Amino acid sequence: MTIPVMRPWLGEDEATAAAEAIASGWVAQGPRVAEFEKAFAASIGASHAVALSSCTTALHLALIVAGIQPGDEVVVPSLSFIATANAVRYVGAEPVFADVDGATQNLVPDMVEPCLTERTRAVILVDQAGIPADLDAMRILCEPRGIAIIEDAACAVGATYRGRPVGAGASLAAFSFHPRKLLTTGEGGMLITADADIAARLRRLREHGMSVSAAERHANQQPVIEQYLEVGFNYRMTDIQAAVGLVQLRKLDRMVARRRALAERYQSCLGDIPGLVTARDPAYGTTNYQGFWIVLPDGFPVSRNELMRMLAEAGVSARRGVMAAHLEPAYADRKGPQLPVTERLTSDSLILPLFHDMTHEQQDLVVSVIRGAAALDQPPARRTTLPANGPSHRREDLRTQPRSAAKARILVTGVGGRSVGAGILHSLMRADDSVRDRWEIVGTDADPFSWGLYVADHKALVPLASTPGYLERIQELIDLHELAAVLPGTEPEAALLAARRDELPVPVIANDAQLMPLMMDKQQAEAKLRELGLNFIPSYPWDRREEAVSEFGFPLVVKPSRETGGSRGVHLAISRRELEGLAPFVRTEHQPMVQPYIGDADAEYTVGVLSDKSGNVIDSIVIRRKLIGLSLLAAKNYGEGTAAISTGISQGFVVRHRAIQEFCEDLAKRLGSRGPLNIQLRVHDNNLYVFEIHPRFSGTTAIRASAGFNEPDILLRNHLWDEEFGRLNYRENLMAIRAFEHVLVPMDDTGHTPA
Ligand SMILES: Cc1ncc(COP(=O)(O)O)c(C=O)c1O
Repeated sequence: MTIPVMRPWLGEDEATAAAEAIASGWVAQGPRVAEFEKAFAASIGASHAVALSSCTTALHLALIVAGIQPGDEVVVPSLSFIATANAVRYVGAEPVFADVDGATQNLVPDMVEPCLTERTRAVILVDQAGIPADLDAMRILCEPRGIAIIEDAACAVGATYRGRPVGAGASLAAFSFHPRKLLTTGEGGMLITADADIAARLRRLREHGMSVSAAERHANQQPVIEQYLEVGFNYRMTDIQAAVGLVQLRKLDRMVARRRALAERYQSCLGDIPGLVTARDPAYGTTNYQGFWIVLPDGFPVSRNELMRMLAEAGVSARRGVMAAHLEPAYADRKGPQLPVTERLTSDSLILPLFHDMTHEQQDLVVSVIRGAAALDQPPARRTTLPANGPSHRREDLRTQPRSAAKARILVTGVGGRSVGAGILHSLMRADDSVRDRWEIVGTDADPFSWGLYVADHKALVPLASTPGYLERIQELIDLHELAAVLPGTEPEAALLAARRDELPVPVIANDAQLMPLMMDKQQAEAKLRELGLNFIPSYPWDRREEAVSEFGFPLVVKPSRETGGSRGVHLAISRRELEGLAPFVRTEHQPMVQPYIGDADAEYTVGVLSDKSGNVIDSIVIRRKLIGLSLLAAKNYGEGTAAISTGISQGFVVRHRAIQEFCEDLAKRLGSRGPLNIQLRVHDNNLYVFEIHPRFSGTTAIRASAGFNEPDILLRNHLWDEEFGRLNYRENLMAIRAFEHVLVPMDDTGHTPA
């Protein structure tokens, strides 16, 4: 295992955005740069943001617009990446190195004041490693003396200072989008300012001092002759970079939340090493933990370099702490005071790996090496009671139990009483003791009245999958409960979590995202089956129902074709009067469709095909469905009257049917299924007609598990422990009978259920 110190969180969305920029033909600075500037300024709450090629070039231009000239002095921390000091030399001025505060690694007025002379024109205040510096305190020192403050916020995007994003109150603040930072565009920077004239000058300076930008010239119908008003630079960002930046900016909150959770975990796992200091929030703000540094105490059994060597041997890439520019040959001639704090920090600190998709397992390895070096062999005491979660009225868990070492803790979502998630819970908690002993379950739902919340070991409320913040909440729960896997229990959650699985640090036990359109959009399912040469029951859009009537007659099935699966919203019409009577109940936003009811009510099957994470079929199981409404209907020979398709899902017969199984297993292979796949079909004249495909667990999951076909358990073991499975040897010729269960829990004194 090689654990990098940082890995940018880039995915398909960034790749698509970059490709779109390229396809647009505008690859240099253009409309996407303008859009990125606007979005970035809005996210900070700043008036103007000017995109540049790097933070280094942003610092250079900041010093120019601050009027810094040859012969001036600029106070900077030596403890910073060398670009901070270099930028001062670019304008011919002299960097004067001040020492820093040990807790934040930032400049503070007490350290800066002794460095001020009559030649001091500016201070570059660095938010080192993402910990905000105290800007207000520095202003009290500098403003009365007419000394400009330039904030080097290279590392600090997403950090906050006195309740606002870092940079919000700065007159000039420079950000970096280098890949070591949270938000990356490959290379890139941004300079924000409150002053419109300064912003206009910065835009000129980044583009050779040109009076008219390329974008303005392009927009003009008439030829435009530009002028070069002063000596400028080529410090432009490209539109390809900005396209990536726009996607990254939308992910920033999640990046910060994830880093903060991982940092907190480091703090709690290393907190008992005597004297060890770690990066932390200052009293007046929050860090984004761009760099998670630790400072080794005096008397630590091994040196910093020795510890880095031990980490490297374990496959962990750490970095020395922040460099000190005054110790580098380029600044051998520097002036200024002694820098004892800087020298101690740079020699005794190191930066630990921290990246968005870092797993707890990876973090545990880093921790174990450090604890080993500290001669603390035992892992730190683990939490046995869970911290509070959710927007709750009463926060303790009803059924929190000490965590057994043998159990893996997993999340099952959407555990309402009639949901697929409830079927997963049944399978893992009720089917058989050996399964029960493997898993400790956190159940989630949006509805505090969900049965599964009160049956699972722990519970949490989450918003609906369609709500912004859903994924963040799942991420938060993963951290909070130290979860090993997530099992989505509703279709929207399965679709979302499968599509975003790369953003989560633990496996999502759901089929491939590419199969999700088969269940979310029945027209796509139909097209796919036809492409494979199979019979899909023909369908007509609701507003062309007359064609279905004239081609097939009754009965006809009316159901949504989009965004809702299972038996929800499914109606049966056995006459024209009933068909038209359904009109008020048909939800047009779900694009209803009309299908003939091919075959008879006793020839309907739900087939589960289980494939492992590599796509190998493990086994399949057939439930012949018992559809109450249709059986009665059949008995009445489709006469006039009211009929309904029963939800049917929790009752039926577990049977063997080789031909159906072979057909469905073959279909699973051809679709590339890698998880649970449910196929609903009817048999008519020895032909199989598929009418639904659901690449998720099913309403019959719990029935199957009771028969020994325990899909959630098997997939969890396959994903988490790489176990491989052959045929499952489950029981058959069983009748599954639906039962109800209620849960009674005490209300709290506000009359709410505790959740
Ligand atoms: C404090 C500080 N300033 C400036 C820079 C330079 O940023 P860029 O690589 O975007 O030029 C860095 C980069 O690490 C930095 O940490």
